[in-house]
Amino acid sequence: MNPWTHLRSIDPADSGLLPADRTSFLADDGHTLLDVVYDWERAHRELGFGRDPSIFAKRLALGAACATGSSEAMLDASGVWRFRELLPFVRAPQDTVTVGEGKTILQRNDALARLLGFEPCRMPDGSRSDRPGLFLQYEGLNPSGSFKDNGMTAAFSHARMVGAKKVVCASTGNTSASLALYASAAGVPGFVLVGSGKIAMGKLAQALDYGARTLQVDGDFDACLARVRELSTDRPELGVYLMNSINPFRLEGQKTIMFRVLDALGWQPPDWVVVPGGNLGNCSAFAKAFLELHELGMIDRIPRLAVINASGARTLDRIYNELGIRWNHGRCDNKAIRGEYSRMDAAGERAATVATAIQINRPVNLPKALRALDVMDGVVRSVDDHCIMEHKALVGRHGFGCEPASAASVAGARRLLEEGIIKPDERVVCILTGHALKDPDATVRYHAIHRHGRAGDVSIPLGCSSNRPVPVADDVEAILREMG
Ligand code: F0G
Repeated sequence: MNPWTHLRSIDPADSGLLPADRTSFLADDGHTLLDVVYDWERAHRELGFGRDPSIFAKRLALGAACATGSSEAMLDASGVWRFRELLPFVRAPQDTVTVGEGKTILQRNDALARLLGFEPCRMPDGSRSDRPGLFLQYEGLNPSGSFKDNGMTAAFSHARMVGAKKVVCASTGNTSASLALYASAAGVPGFVLVGSGKIAMGKLAQALDYGARTLQVDGDFDACLARVRELSTDRPELGVYLMNSINPFRLEGQKTIMFRVLDALGWQPPDWVVVPGGNLGNCSAFAKAFLELHELGMIDRIPRLAVINASGARTLDRIYNELGIRWNHGRCDNKAIRGEYSRMDAAGERAATVATAIQINRPVNLPKALRALDVMDGVVRSVDDHCIMEHKALVGRHGFGCEPASAASVAGARRLLEEGIIKPDERVVCILTGHALKDPDATVRYHAIHRHGRAGDVSIPLGCSSNRPVPVADDVEAILREMG
């Protein structure tokens, strides 16, 4: 590992550095999460990086031109590794496991913005644009169709450096698809644990097709995560490397989603970043990205964060807004959090939402998310399944297909706009985390079933924007009549 890279407990009272080749991703107390930390001065001196972000955009053009050339060129072609000086833990290009991930783009969508209530936006220099400031960061364009590839390329590179022999994850679907893809690319046996009947078809299909051994556990995501933690942490002799977002190297890769947003906005931070919250890795990674860039002097202010839960899986919303638990300089009220989990268990409360990607009871990155909300002056909201599906349809109608969980970001942005928390002239980036084809069942039910359908234990609401298929006779005149 590079001499300037270490792991460190997120507890500010524990500043001891741990070796970066460690594969147990908790501090020595057995429960505190870890960060990847760098000696930035040394890293940037030795890498010859003068903190001028224009190099990243230049690499984009360079990488596209010679992606089949040297390893350096492969790195330039990746939307993660073209920012390599901002996640500088990899020793050499050949340590990197990349499939050209992160070629995702920030898309402006004026029609959707106006429909949601946005107005011409205020630019960072105080001038007024003639266009509203809603941007969609479309992570569905990744090789496995979700944002997870950003993190997987980073964690697989760490796994390669430490010589991991087997990799494992628990998943609501996308992590398993992404792990399966990278495991086959890296030539490492991959194992995924998914809740039986709890994941969308497209994601299951991917895990199977990419060749991961797929274990359908008789339980939900939280049960799967508990089991993989037992396998990887409690039984180190098995040499099983953990690929869930508890792995801080995953989050290093996910920082680059924000680097690409900034790259597209000329390194002028937006006013808001809105992201769906499940296991809370993404929001944690975003805050780390902004904090580091701010400390490095590469941005002059940090945007605000909105984390959007599904109403049927709103643990963070309850903990933050109802129990009022805060990061509190690293001394968050763990007793109250444990109490809430016990209450949920006693009441038999289990997450249930059409947005199966974020159907999670106990988000593993909760403390990091509380820190993120602190760093980014954040807010948390929940949106119900009906609202999620309506906004998914609106996103689709405006040219960007996404899966239900992703649409929570757009639904959440609208809610915050209506509450007056997001101002209509602010510049807002919503993260579309996964591709529409991930969950075709939810989409077809929304459009084609003209009543309350049921998928497992989740009610799929009737859609206002439903676009029903029309049965028609095998006759050109009949077809023409239907074409209007
Ligand atoms: N959106 C999608 C499409 C996801 O797949 C996930 C998480 C999230 C949002 C939430 O992101 O966990 O960083 O807060 N999916 C995980 C999985 C849990 O197993 O695929 P988060």
